[in-house]
Amino acid sequence: MDKRRIVCNFVALFQIVKNFSRMKKQKILVATSGGDCPGLNAVLRSFVKRADLEGGWEVWGSIQSFSGLLGQPQDLRLLDRKAVSGIHIKGGTIIGTTKSSGPFNWPIKQADGTFKYIDRSDEMVQMCRDIGFAAVVNIGGDGSQAMSKRLFDKGLPIIGIPKTIDNDLGATDVTFGFQSAVDIATEALDRLVSTAESHNRILILEVMGKNSGWIALHSAIAGGAEICLLPEIPYDIDKVKSFLDARFEGGKKFAVAVVAEGAHPQGGDALGVQASELSSVRFEGAAQRFAQELKQAGVEAGIRCTILGHVQRGGSPVPYDRVLASQYGVKAFDLIQEGKFGQMVTYQSNKVSSVPLEEAISNPKFVDPNSFLVHTAKSINICFGD
Ligand code: F6P
Repeated sequence: MDKRRIVCNFVALFQIVKNFSRMKKQKILVATSGGDCPGLNAVLRSFVKRADLEGGWEVWGSIQSFSGLLGQPQDLRLLDRKAVSGIHIKGGTIIGTTKSSGPFNWPIKQADGTFKYIDRSDEMVQMCRDIGFAAVVNIGGDGSQAMSKRLFDKGLPIIGIPKTIDNDLGATDVTFGFQSAVDIATEALDRLVSTAESHNRILILEVMGKNSGWIALHSAIAGGAEICLLPEIPYDIDKVKSFLDARFEGGKKFAVAVVAEGAHPQGGDALGVQASELSSVRFEGAAQRFAQELKQAGVEAGIRCTILGHVQRGGSPVPYDRVLASQYGVKAFDLIQEGKFGQMVTYQSNKVSSVPLEEAISNPKFVDPNSFLVHTAKSINICFGD
């Protein structure tokens, strides 16, 4: 046998052995769904490392949520130790995500450029069976976990991992991404304070959170804001004006306000736009409206608005989020091993646990106006306008 032939035979043998060992491995599909947030990559890394150390498992990432599985061509990537090496410090998600398509609302472009949405969930469940995925992990917020629940009801062995900077999922005390967002908002406030003071201005910082005010409340306390407006505590502009008058009379001629994007005056609504029936509400304009109202109420100081926007979602996760995300990844794998599907990983009273998906999505978490946290803020003279 010549040398080339020996090499060819060796390569063929190697492929057979490799394919055989792959065949024996159990496959798991992982997707990141909805808006991204710091810590997603830390979850992927811990999940893959846990599976790899266990042995006998192969983790596949579906690119751009489940579009990777359902798309033509299919885009699934093997997530091995090398693929996740060192990614815990990276923002975003290495497997991408999307808010605009899913198995229940798969967009089909029409001749006139509009979209028709079809339900491909049954097809997706069948696809997972055909490929041989022993489990599916969906890392996402409230909307994504509602999708997980519907897929579970159709027989898909699925586990949910909660993520959102908004921290508004009732089943878990905290979601990863939240502390990172608070960190960014607090840093912005620290910077705003010095310029507000130099110019004797009122500087307003608008932060994310949809209908919940967690980012606003935490950053207002941490950053020493004078005013904090939350969706859960509708404000009265006259009360805010009186607070500012008292502050200015006391000698301080500047103020910094944190306004949650969903904040609204008493008797008014949050400023949200819903582009289509399937898209989520986009909040816009709460800070501008508040600035306008202050001017109309007779506040004479210069007023400027800063909209922090997606800066809060990008970049490296803070250590707290890396640790929480790593625990979530490991717990999700543990649940798969125990065969406990239809569950979402949670963190309650300092313990990593899980709840049925149904419970996870039925209970959004809002700031309680009577909580100790709000009491703390009020006790250090933060004005809510109530
Ligand atoms: O839910 C996370 C979040 O960042 C909200 O705080 C915010 O309202 C929304 O997503 C922004 O969504 P998009 O990225 O679609 O603009």
